[in-house]
Amino acid sequence: ETTPRLPVIWEHFQECTCCSESFIRSDHPIVADIILDKISLDYTLTLMAASGHQAEAAKKATMEKYKGEYILCVEGSIPMGADGNYCCIGGRSAVDILKESAAGAKAIIAWGSCATSGCVQAAKPNPTGAVPIHKIITDKPIINVPGCPPIGEVMAGIIVHVVAFGKLPELDSSGRPKAFYSKRVHDSCYRRPYFDAGLFAENFDDENAKKGYCLYKVGCKGPSTYNACGNMKWNGGVSYPIQSGHGCIGCSAKDFWDAGSFYSRD
Ligand code: SF4
Ligand code: SF4
Ligand code: F3S
Repeated sequence: ETTPRLPVIWEHFQECTCCSESFIRSDHPIVADIILDKISLDYTLTLMAASGHQAEAAKKATMEKYKGEYILCVEGSIPMGADGNYCCIGGRSAVDILKESAAGAKAIIAWGSCATSGCVQAAKPNPTGAVPIHKIITDKPIINVPGCPPIGEVMAGIIVHVVAFGKLPELDSSGRPKAFYSKRVHDSCYRRPYFDAGLFAENFDDENAKKGYCLYKVGCKGPSTYNACGNMKWNGGVSYPIQSGHGCIGCSAKDFWDAGSFYSRD
């Protein structure tokens, strides 16, 4: 009860905000407990009541008071084209804002495929010159949490780990928390017995699809995608893409937009 809440600054750059949308739907732990009890979310363009100069003042105060102590969360990629002018907030470019807010951070959490690999903005021909966070900030620990978006409970779990243990979770060679990204979607898929038996849907509307056979031949990228969807599922453990009849498009895999068709094995 006497431990101060962990100060957090959450930046939004070139993104769609669905990482935030996913986060606020975490129900175990429930997001209200995190925001109200575990952390002090001092700056986020999506959830904070303040706006304009008041909001910027709140961020500045946190950067000064908690220098070296606050966690910086970043949602979105950084456009480096046109001197960074494709994404500006309050008259400043995303790259300038990122460098400033990262300078005093204890660690950075890069949310989603935008912040970890550039996502759709960085897909060919990458008109804004979008890059992920680790291409710009190289002197701070970064937790990469890929997915478009990541699972809300994964996001909440990573924050709670940092709060509870005061250190980063164990990461793999790509900077992803091993607890959530060490297995392929294929490894926990309930359709896996059909894959192993060679039983596949050939089209989305054929008899085999209706029987729930494996979606590999209609493009499922589960065999090459590392994420916890098969175990944790979405919307509080209700379902996930494959359970709703669509193959995994590899949304947590690096550069998945350019990796090939979503609907074939190309
Ligand atoms: Fe949106 Fe996907 Fe980027 Fe998250 S990773 S902000 S869901 S485009
Ligand atoms: Fe693997 Fe996808 Fe088939 Fe599931 S549906 S067994 S993830 S290929
Ligand atoms: Fe993304 Fe595949 Fe999971 S598309 S949500 S990693 S099943």
